[in-house]
Amino acid sequence: MKIIQLCSIVNIYLILFVVSLIDAKLQCDEVSRAFKKKGSVDYNVAKKCLESFPFNAEYATKNIDAALHTLSHYYVFFDRAKEKSPSGFTYQPVDLERELTSLRNKFLNQIMTFLYTALRNPLFKLKDGHTRINNICYHHFIYDQKLSLYSVITTDKKGKKKQVFNDKLDPSNNDCEVTEIEGKPALQTIIDFASDRIAYSKDLGVRFNMALAPSLNVFSQQFTLRGDLPETSSIKYNLSCPKNKSSTIERKWSVTYEDKFIFAFDNFCFNINNITALSFNDNFASSGKVTKSAPSDIFETLKSSIAKNFYLLDDGKIKVGVAIINEERQDLIDALKDGFQKLKRKGAKKLILDMSNNAGGDISLPLFLTSLLLSSKQPNSFPTDIIIQNFTVSKIEKNFNSKGPNDYDLYSPNFYLSFPSGNPFKNASEFIGSRKKRTSNLYLNALSPNEEKLLNNTSSFSWTSDDIIILTNGFCASACAVLTLFFSEVHKVKTIAVGGLLDTQMSFSTFPGGEITSSNLIMEFAGDNFTNLPVANALLLTIRESYDMDINGTVKDVLEYSYKPANYRLYYDEKNARDPSLLWLEAAKILNNKA
Ligand SMILES: *[C@@H]1O[C@H](CO)[C@@H](O)[C@H](O)[C@H]1NC(C)=O
Ligand SMILES: *[C@@H]1O[C@H](CO)[C@@H](O)[C@H](O)[C@H]1NC(C)=O
Ligand SMILES: *[C@@H]1O[C@H](CO)[C@@H](O)[C@H](O)[C@H]1NC(C)=O
Ligand SMILES: *[C@@H]1O[C@H](CO)[C@@H](O)[C@H](O)[C@H]1NC(C)=O
Ligand SMILES: *[C@@H]1O[C@H](CO)[C@@H](O)[C@H](O)[C@H]1NC(C)=O
Ligand SMILES: *[C@@H]1O[C@H](CO)[C@@H](O)[C@H](O)[C@H]1NC(C)=O
Ligand SMILES: *[C@@H]1O[C@H](CO)[C@@H](O)[C@H](O)[C@H]1NC(C)=O
Ligand SMILES: *[C@@H]1O[C@H](CO)[C@@H](O)[C@H](O)[C@H]1NC(C)=O
Ligand SMILES: *[C@@H]1O[C@H](CO)[C@@H](O)[C@H](O)[C@H]1NC(C)=O
Repeated sequence: MKIIQLCSIVNIYLILFVVSLIDAKLQCDEVSRAFKKKGSVDYNVAKKCLESFPFNAEYATKNIDAALHTLSHYYVFFDRAKEKSPSGFTYQPVDLERELTSLRNKFLNQIMTFLYTALRNPLFKLKDGHTRINNICYHHFIYDQKLSLYSVITTDKKGKKKQVFNDKLDPSNNDCEVTEIEGKPALQTIIDFASDRIAYSKDLGVRFNMALAPSLNVFSQQFTLRGDLPETSSIKYNLSCPKNKSSTIERKWSVTYEDKFIFAFDNFCFNINNITALSFNDNFASSGKVTKSAPSDIFETLKSSIAKNFYLLDDGKIKVGVAIINEERQDLIDALKDGFQKLKRKGAKKLILDMSNNAGGDISLPLFLTSLLLSSKQPNSFPTDIIIQNFTVSKIEKNFNSKGPNDYDLYSPNFYLSFPSGNPFKNASEFIGSRKKRTSNLYLNALSPNEEKLLNNTSSFSWTSDDIIILTNGFCASACAVLTLFFSEVHKVKTIAVGGLLDTQMSFSTFPGGEITSSNLIMEFAGDNFTNLPVANALLLTIRESYDMDINGTVKDVLEYSYKPANYRLYYDEKNARDPSLLWLEAAKILNNKA
């Protein structure tokens, strides 16, 4: 009975398949024309186009095989992801092997024929912002409601939580409260969305912030600005406005496409031969997603150019410096040093580090900033570890003898320092360790020669751990997370988290991971001969893990799975949701009052 049914599905499918081959270019014609003129298209037009993309079961299963090979060999949280979430975090355990194998069967039997979202979902469940699949055809659409939602805490009687609505298109809606979304209570709708659909934090409060504004970054405002095809063509909001009666608005999605990928969309997304070609990855090396030159983070290419800003708060009694650091880039080290020196010259006695909306970046920057602000003895970064396959051992030995500390290779011991001594590795086997368990070969990041030179030529600052406070909206990811966690765990710098869910503790950082790379790079580094990597679905994954450590250098749990709520909490209101400097004043109060 079951087999018969399967066959009939296959038959139906095959007919559709022929149709869709002819149709894809037709269905996408309007989309293509609009995008070329940097215009937008209607939701239904975009949906038809996306659904017409050709499917090929062999290609789909190859994608899964490649993803499973990469993840099972190099993903540092492959086993840990199967465990229950630690208290404070909110996510479900994920058995990647089981999920991907089941997906593979569905593709093979053509029970499922829409590759793009299907492959992405099991990875999104990990709530590890470093690990995901991006399809070059599918994931560059932008779905925009053209409005921003804020969550503020009103000051009335019981401090009841409310959504405040800010409409970019129609300013008369500003400060209306959103009571319902699609007929359901607004707040719960956002919480559910953050819970199920946002992948970039294990902390639900942080995901809640990411669903909403304020935002400078690509991962914020995700409820109204999406990268995956929404289920419906519009969203209905019930509003309750201060100077007006209740009203309902229905907002259609405006669909556009990321500029720099339009060439790809036009040239091969509708063509099955192009999509299944496994050799075209070279064509996309120029898209700048992942480069091999440095251990940098992919987010670098996505970020706004706002780099750093320094302010002085002066109430006549005590001067407090504010440093906004929203990215971690090597080429910012001079500017950062200059900024802090300026604050010192202007007499800042204390320091607020506003690290909100920081998507991370260069993994040696945390080390640089720690050394710059809090001159400390080694080790001055968290220890890390990586998975070593048998066939990688000989590569490590070769790298030890041939590669210098500037010559980046993930598996070059010369690029790191041994833990806990902070000395260079004496030989390859010291780096490799016993391999009996993951933590047998811990090592530290090393400062780059440029950073070292700059530090050698900078006189130290007088700020102590007690003079500094870190402020974030929870979206302080990757390298930013490693930095703030190191300040907090090892140097006992206090932290403030803004927003999130009322009366629920919240993390000040998210997905510290250790290091991200792509499947093709990790295999090249490791000396893995696995071929058939379909790079149209670019897999990015965490390949190094950082460990929590206390002030005495005692190694604790994996950082990614350690719940670290902030010491203090602030909430958004109508004013500070739009003007972050009001949050600095609150932070200065906390900084000046604390023991
Ligand atoms: C929300 O709007 C819909 C449509 O106008 C209306 O039927 C519903 O009663 C509204 N809900 C509330 C709580 O006002
Ligand atoms: C009140 O709502 C109506 C209908 O939604 C709208 O046309 C009008 O501009 C609003 N007035 C104010 C003062 O917000
Ligand atoms: C995709 O296929 C079309 C038509 O066969 C061809 O002209 C184009 O060069 C191909 N593009 C790539 C990137 O392979
Ligand atoms: C790797 O090498 C060790 C020691 O030689 C051996 O015990 C182990 O089975 C090998 N692992 C694999 C997956 O081949
Ligand atoms: C990969 O291929 C090379 C060249 O054929 C071979 O020397 C090496 O042993 C292979 N490595 C593995 C892990 O199979
Ligand atoms: C590697 O260095 C360690 C630490 O100095 C030393 O104990 C070990 O004997 C060395 N191993 C080899 C193979 O040289
Ligand atoms: C920085 O100073 C240290 C200690 O004085 C020295 O060992 C190191 O070589 C210097 N580095 C650079 C790049 O000048
Ligand atoms: C140290 O910094 C000063 C001021 O920025 C600069 O003039 C000097 O050349 C630097 N010295 C070295 C050795 O880099
Ligand atoms: C670190 O070591 C000191 C001195 O041995 C001890 O007093 C302190 O409790 C230790 N701290 C932690 C967090 O273990």
